[in-house]
Amino acid sequence: MTGTDDWLDELRALLGDSAVLTAAADTERYVSDWTGRFRGEALAVVRPASTAEVSEVVRRCAAARVAVVPQGGNTGLVGGGVPVATDGDGVGARPSVVLCLERMRAVRALDTVADTVTVEAGAVLADLHDAVAEVDRLFPVSLGSQGSCTVGGIVSTNAGGTSVLRYGMTRELVLGLEVVLPDGRVWDGLRALRKDNSGYDLKQLFVGAEGTLGVVTAATLRMVPATPRRATALLALSSVRTATDLLPVLRAAAGEQLTTWELFNRASLDLVLAHVPAARDPFARPYAWYGLVEVAGGGDEVDARLEAALADAVEAGGVPDAVVAGSPAQREVLWLLREGISEAQRVEGVAVKHDVSVPIASLAELVARLEERVPALLPGVRLITYGHVGDGNLHYNLSAPVEAPGSLLPASEELTAAVYAVVADLGGSISAEHGLGVLKRDAAAGLTAAVELDLMRAVKSALDPLGLMNPGKVLPDG
Ligand code: MLT
Ligand code: ZN
Repeated sequence: MTGTDDWLDELRALLGDSAVLTAAADTERYVSDWTGRFRGEALAVVRPASTAEVSEVVRRCAAARVAVVPQGGNTGLVGGGVPVATDGDGVGARPSVVLCLERMRAVRALDTVADTVTVEAGAVLADLHDAVAEVDRLFPVSLGSQGSCTVGGIVSTNAGGTSVLRYGMTRELVLGLEVVLPDGRVWDGLRALRKDNSGYDLKQLFVGAEGTLGVVTAATLRMVPATPRRATALLALSSVRTATDLLPVLRAAAGEQLTTWELFNRASLDLVLAHVPAARDPFARPYAWYGLVEVAGGGDEVDARLEAALADAVEAGGVPDAVVAGSPAQREVLWLLREGISEAQRVEGVAVKHDVSVPIASLAELVARLEERVPALLPGVRLITYGHVGDGNLHYNLSAPVEAPGSLLPASEELTAAVYAVVADLGGSISAEHGLGVLKRDAAAGLTAAVELDLMRAVKSALDPLGLMNPGKVLPDG
């Protein structure tokens, strides 16, 4: 792009110097990602402070044919929030800016009659939790990265997390959106209506679109009643089949208060015990699998429901041991064993991550088939298997063999192909909750019916005819 310096100077004049970062030391954390697998280049990182500023930046980018990479907390796991490397990835050397929403954090409105909150895209999820707790409500998306991920990010990736079992994915909690379209126009769709059948549901197009159709600048979200009482237990489990068989047992005993049913294997726990200082194994001996169950509500009934659920689980069999958190501090420690896995695995080096879902009844078969195939491809590979068993969603993550740390990444294509083949055979999805980004863009296209790809391309070219919104993500030719 010719005249880049002048163009950037104009942006500085518009937004202020501190809102346009170009020095490598300042931009590095925005152009590289948390997993250590993705890094790209950008002309600048632009940090607007209002929807009007986002609109003006996007309008100027469209005029100059500069691509826009929207970014929230940069906690994504598929390379969706950073620019693609200009050495390939299907998009060539297109100039781009990272458009970071981190300065737009305001809670614009809290309505305790309709139970809705309207909040800007850059608000950190944990801050949103705190804001709605002030009025005795809960915004029920809960993730390991909630201290850094943002509202715009969870909307744009349709984030899942550890309470999907009860409350659904982010999509089910979005009532309205404000979006800056690829030409710079602002779509004010911040409706708080529970019932609105006036035509196509446009907001849902932008949920999970990973910033490829526009920039989400604010959202109106549903709040639910606060659940100050949380009863939590860790169960030792003999198998994945035990975990899936227990789901209806737990649900029958705990009813709609069953909020979480998570699973992890011993190798996952070993990583947490090795790398998270506050972590302790609550059992006297190791077990193959562990299940974390939580029942949440307003009063003491949650303890009784958890007790009943545990009694039924033990009677059903396959549960050699269990511990119940006796205090909020003990509860935190049990959660740490599950939520610490992702970070603990990162400490061990770059992981090959898979975020797959299959019908819940097929989870045990998935794990059994992969346990045969994957180690045969890379002897010694560590299977860090964990996830949201209540949603049929496993993170079938791989770490390098201890003796051969350099052997994992060269084998990653073959390993991933083996995982995806079994997932496809079982009628599953290769992206349950993390999105496609760059990591899964091509593999997903290969597994998607031609008619679905045509529909997606039609949506993309209708909304973003210049192909400037987060290019190289989601669609192979997008
Ligand atoms: C989690 O559930 O902990 C994350 O979604 C998984 C991951 O980091 O791979
Ligand atoms: Zn997850």
